[in-house]
Amino acid sequence: MKNSKKYYSEISSLIDSDLAKAVSIEFPPNLYNPMKYVLSSKGKRFRPVLLIMACETVGGSFQDAYNASLAIEILHNFTLVHDDIMDDDQLRRGRKTVHKKWNNSIAILTGDGLIALAYRYLLRSKTERIRDIIKKFSEAIIKICEGQSLDKDMESASEVNIDDYLDMIKRKTGVLISISAELGGILGNASETEIEALKNFGFEIGIAFQIQDDLLDIISDEVVIGKDLGSDLALGKKTYPIIKLLECVPQTGLNFLKDVLENGNTGVNSIRRVKTMLHEYGIVDQTQSEISRHIDKAVACLNDNLASLQLDHLMYMSEMIRNRKF
Ligand code: IPE
Ligand code: IPE
Ligand code: MG
Ligand code: MG
Ligand code: MG
Repeated sequence: MKNSKKYYSEISSLIDSDLAKAVSIEFPPNLYNPMKYVLSSKGKRFRPVLLIMACETVGGSFQDAYNASLAIEILHNFTLVHDDIMDDDQLRRGRKTVHKKWNNSIAILTGDGLIALAYRYLLRSKTERIRDIIKKFSEAIIKICEGQSLDKDMESASEVNIDDYLDMIKRKTGVLISISAELGGILGNASETEIEALKNFGFEIGIAFQIQDDLLDIISDEVVIGKDLGSDLALGKKTYPIIKLLECVPQTGLNFLKDVLENGNTGVNSIRRVKTMLHEYGIVDQTQSEISRHIDKAVACLNDNLASLQLDHLMYMSEMIRNRKF
């Protein structure tokens, strides 16, 4: 079996170059230029790599999985373009967001174009189960919309509990990472038990992925994540670390935190103060343990159900999330 890290980077380079070429039409420029702009920005390519690795783990080939993997990545990019409008963010992958570089109408259309393009790639998958795959892909999009809807509602909710938060992130992020692993299994002709295990594995690492993302929003660095730092705070999002901090912080800190969340008071100093509080009250550690708990569950799911297979690549993918810094 190839070295997982090296293989990951080979696949992501190939995806980068194929996506950069995916749109060749020029007219109308205010549709195709921003689509090209998005497709030529380099993300981690975590979901498509996961799909391919899942497919190969169960005995499928790279070719069986590749078109669907591009479809998943394009779908993900569509969600990012619309998410950036909804979150009013300036920066994505170290570059201006589409709606800031152009405008909202152009960004909405860019997203629409991308989702259609994703289906075009998905339909190139050579499998008898194409109907099933399209159904799952469509259902996943609806779940993401549900998650994003709940995410926006929770900005203005005065209180959000952990169960509501988890329900929301499962839909907005868990489902797409889950379906990436699941489609890999289907395209690799895995058994139903194997497919179910891959789906559950993806779901758990997807939950961990979003909790990590929410922590990085506060404790990372804008240059490292290539996104606006403190964006969640500015919009009053009650993310995992914030819910935990609200539970334990004494009154003065609580007043400050509520002011940040309710009035979007998020200058550099406020974000720094929240970061200090997260460290001081042990929330960074607690959040990292929660991430690890989901990763461990994901790994157990593989070990319990797919023990006869070579699991190095999938293990590598789960460790990547445990340790991700951007
Ligand atoms: C960002 O996803 C959106 C979330 C679900 C948190 P990624 O962190 O995978 O973004 P890219 O694709 O690497 O830019
Ligand atoms: C994004 O969650 C989830 C989807 C795009 C569906 P976030 O809003 O946290 O993602 P980032 O931080 O902007 O990448
Ligand atoms: Mg966002
Ligand atoms: Mg968002
Ligand atoms: Mg985020």
